[in-house]
Amino acid sequence: MPRHVVLLLSGPNLNLLGTRQPEIYGTDTLLDHVQAARRAATERGWDLEHRQSNHEGDLVDAVHAGIGRVEAIVVNPGALTHYGWSLHDALAAFEGPIVELHLSEPREREPWRHHSVVEPLATARVAGQGGTGYPQAVTLAIQAAAAEAPTAVPDTGDAADTGDPGDR
Ligand code: DQA
Repeated sequence: MPRHVVLLLSGPNLNLLGTRQPEIYGTDTLLDHVQAARRAATERGWDLEHRQSNHEGDLVDAVHAGIGRVEAIVVNPGALTHYGWSLHDALAAFEGPIVELHLSEPREREPWRHHSVVEPLATARVAGQGGTGYPQAVTLAIQAAAAEAPTAVPDTGDAADTGDPGDR
């Protein structure tokens, strides 16, 4: 049975969660969020891979490594959300569903956070839910991937039916 894999990407400064601006991002660590995300994947029979980096190129490489191998991506790009065009371009090359995830709601913060370069590529967006957003985003990504997966066409025994009424 092939493994179903969802890739979770975490951008710059998310490694500091737990102590970084707890009034905005809460006190849970990134590991706490990854564990909650992984539980949501496991409950659905999926594997979850996680990569955090403070360097845009590392995240670009992680997307490239996922192409043709993972079926969905959940990405909290951190500040790259707002200007990370090479991450955008890498995600644009990915054929499966992409869910954009934020702990806070950037649209309710400083104006420079209102624009997202990832949003046009995203099947869904989860923001402002704090840590509960992680399992939510994973669930949405898996549901979207399952909906996109090719399903077997049931054999009706009508294969020779051209649709022409004269054929019936
Ligand atoms: C964030 C929001 C971004 O604006 C910010 O730069 C982050 C975290 C969030 O999860 O709320 O690093 O993506």
